[in-house]
Amino acid sequence: MTAPVRDAVTVAVALGARSYDIVIGRGILSTLGARIAAQRPGAKTFIVTDENVARHALGAAEAALAHAGVAASRTIVAAGEASKSYSVLEQVCEAIIASHIERGDLVIALGGGVIGDLAGFAAAVVRRGLDYVQVPTTLLAQVDSSVGGKTAIDSAHGKNLIGAFHQPILVLADTVLLDTLPERQFRAGYAELVKYGLLGDAGFFSWLEANWREIFSGGKSSGSSAREHAIAVSCRAKAAIVARDERETGDRALLNLGHTFGHALEAACGFSDRLLHGEAISAGMALAFEFSARRQGLVPKADAARVVRHLAETGLPTRLKDIPGPLPSVDQLMELIAQDKKVKRGMLTFILVRGIGAAFVEAGVDPREVRTFLSEKLAER
Ligand SMILES: NC(=O)c1ccc[n+]([C@@H]2O[C@H](COP(=O)([O-])OP(=O)(O)OC[C@H]3O[C@@H](n4cnc5c(N)ncnc54)[C@H](O)[C@@H]3O)[C@@H](O)[C@H]2O)c1
Ligand SMILES: [Zn+2]
Repeated sequence: MTAPVRDAVTVAVALGARSYDIVIGRGILSTLGARIAAQRPGAKTFIVTDENVARHALGAAEAALAHAGVAASRTIVAAGEASKSYSVLEQVCEAIIASHIERGDLVIALGGGVIGDLAGFAAAVVRRGLDYVQVPTTLLAQVDSSVGGKTAIDSAHGKNLIGAFHQPILVLADTVLLDTLPERQFRAGYAELVKYGLLGDAGFFSWLEANWREIFSGGKSSGSSAREHAIAVSCRAKAAIVARDERETGDRALLNLGHTFGHALEAACGFSDRLLHGEAISAGMALAFEFSARRQGLVPKADAARVVRHLAETGLPTRLKDIPGPLPSVDQLMELIAQDKKVKRGMLTFILVRGIGAAFVEAGVDPREVRTFLSEKLAER
C-alpha cells in the first residue's frame, strides 16, 4: 500500500530537551525508516502492534524500515483495551529485551491508543527508559493519544492508573492508514477533534461544521486535504497546551472537556463496545455545554444547541437516550463521577464553557447541582 506522499505538515512540540515533531500526511509511512535513520543513525527498532493493525500496516512499516537499512523486530498483541494489562506489558517488555534492544535503540508503537499507551509505557520502563516513536493508526491516536507523552496500562481499580509521562521522539501520522479504520472508530475519534474547537478555537469548530464530510471521506477522490488540515490543527492545539503544562498541573486539564461526564458513561457501560471512548466524550461534551448553559446561564443556549446539532449530524451520540441499553441510577452515576474526580472540600472540578471555543476549569461545582441535572437527563430517556 504505497501511497504517494502528499501534504506533509510538521507540528513541533516544544518541550526543551524533550521536544519532538509530529509529521502528518497522506502516504508518509513510507518515510519512517529514512526519518529514523536520520534522527538515530544505527539504531535498531522494535515494533509493537496489534493483530488488526498488523494486517493493514505492519508490512508497509517493515518495508519502510528495511528500505532505509533500519533493523526491526516486533511483537503482535491482541487488539483491544484488555492488552493494557500487567501480563501483556510483561510479554512486551520481555520481547523487547530478548530482541537485544538497548539504550539508543527505539521502540515503535504502531497502532491506536491502546498500542501507543502500552508500547510507550514499556519503553518508559525497559532499561529505565528507551526512546520511542509513535505511529498512530486511529484518528483518536493521531489527534490525541500519540501526542503529549502520557503512557499507561489499566489497574483493577481503574483505567490508566499504572503509567508514566514519557514523550516520544517522533510522531508519524499517516492519514492513509485511517482508510481501513472501521467507520464507527473513525467517528469516535472525530469527537476528540471537535473537542479542540470547542475548548479553544471557535473558528476551527465552524470550519469543522463546513468540512466534516471531507474529513470523513479522506479526500480520496476530491484531492482535498481537509483530513490532514484537521489533524494538524488538533495536534497544534494539543502541542501548545502540553508545552504549557506537560504534567497536568493546570491548563492541560482543559483537554478533559466532556471527559467527566464521558468517563462516567463509559464506566456505566463497562468500557465495552456499547459505548466507545469518543462516543462517550461526544455525549459528555454535549452534557458539559448544556450544564454550562443551565448553570447561571454561562453559555448562550444557542451555542449548546449548535454543538449538539453538529455532533449528532456526524452520527455521534449527544443524549443519554442515544446510548443503547440500561444506564445506572443517578446515585450510581454520581458515584462514578466522584471516583473519577477527586472531591475537594465537597466540590467537584469540571471543565465548563462560556461559549464555543471558551472552556475553563471550574473547581467549585456543587455535586447537588450535577445530580439534579443528571436526574433530568435520565428522565428524558
Ligand atoms: N495517552 C493519552 O494521552 C491517551 C489519550 C486518549 C486515549 N488514550 C487511550 O487510547 C485508547 C483508545 O485508543 P483507540 O480508540 O485508538 O483504540 P484502539 O487502539 O483499541 O483501536 C481501536 C480499534 O481499531 C483497530 N485499528 C487500529 N488502527 C486501525 C487501522 N488503521 N485500520 C483498521 N483497524 C485499526 C484496533 O485494532 C482496535 O480494534 C484507550 O486505552 C485510552 O485510554 C490515551
Ligand atoms: Zn478522550
